[in-house]
Amino acid sequence: MTRHLRGKMAYILGIESSCDDTSAAVLENDRIRANLIANQSIHQTYGGVVPELASRAHQQNIVPVVDSALKKAGLTAQDLHAIAFTRGPGLLGSLLVGTSFAKTMGLALNIPLIEVNHLEAHILSHFIRETGDSPVPEFPFLCLLVSGGHTQIVLVKSPFDMEIIGQTIDDAAGETFDKSAKIMNLGYPGGPVIDRLAKDGNPNAFTFAEPRIAGYDYSFSGLKTSILYLIRDHLKVDPDFIEKNKNDLCASIQHTIVKILMKKLSLAVKNLNIKTVAIAGGVSANSAMRNAIVETGQRLNWKTFIPKFEYTTDNAAMIAIAGYFKYLNHDFCGLDVVPFAR
Ligand code: KG4
Ligand code: ZN
Repeated sequence: MTRHLRGKMAYILGIESSCDDTSAAVLENDRIRANLIANQSIHQTYGGVVPELASRAHQQNIVPVVDSALKKAGLTAQDLHAIAFTRGPGLLGSLLVGTSFAKTMGLALNIPLIEVNHLEAHILSHFIRETGDSPVPEFPFLCLLVSGGHTQIVLVKSPFDMEIIGQTIDDAAGETFDKSAKIMNLGYPGGPVIDRLAKDGNPNAFTFAEPRIAGYDYSFSGLKTSILYLIRDHLKVDPDFIEKNKNDLCASIQHTIVKILMKKLSLAVKNLNIKTVAIAGGVSANSAMRNAIVETGQRLNWKTFIPKFEYTTDNAAMIAIAGYFKYLNHDFCGLDVVPFAR
């Protein structure tokens, strides 16, 4: 294991397989060389991710995705200095595919393995550089991490020191988008569909229950119930209610979710007096969420960081950048490492 010690430049392969996307990326230090994602459309048929099918599709996709990423980066496997992979959290069967693949490849190439926490990687995606010297957040900063499984306000003190100061006590924000879409029969994943339909809707057409919980924690289960009841009651009077009000419903639901998210984030910024603020995770792709962060930031003098679209939802570039930070610290793992689901 000497290759990584040779020069200052490092090629890191990142592998992400925590849920339903198989992704491989190559970084040259913190600079992106390739980031490829194979989506699994099979889950749309079922209105959600089917774990058994996800692992199976990862197994089919992983070799071609890694192969294509290396080709796109203009490299061969022998050029790599380390392999970073998602250890968790996620679906165990899905994680096992990426983990086993990374171990085998690392062993064959005799290069170090780096285990990465998926959530920390979402946050560290802000440090992936495209071209030139794009600005990156300065430590400490606050990050609103909003994905399909998690909703957290994280105080990021360094790439290795993150403190969750608030989180959801029930559903995640992405889950609320997905479940709302399911109620309206709009397909899966719901977030992007609601975002699109909301563009032609009135965000104040409908009002829903908002949580009242202390501190920086979130709750979305009351909102979900409120959406369900409102739609159910209207459907009793008009069976075409959803079809007629689709855009307004989506705009109002989206508006409420973003309002709830921004309220606690703003409170944290105020109390901690940390004005560097980032968003990350799948829901950070949402147009209303992105607008809200920018507008609030301008109004309250925050320095805001919004990820590039391709780094919002699950991707391996974020795994590779998290791996790069660990690589610089020689923080490697053994072949006995096992994935964790939660
Ligand atoms: O981070 P991610 O890809 O996977 C997890 O780690 O969970 O997030 C997926 C979530 C899904 O719930 C999806 O509906 C949501 O992100 N999402 C969006 C948008 N794009 C993806 N939610 C709202 N608006 C979007 N444009
Ligand atoms: Zn994710």
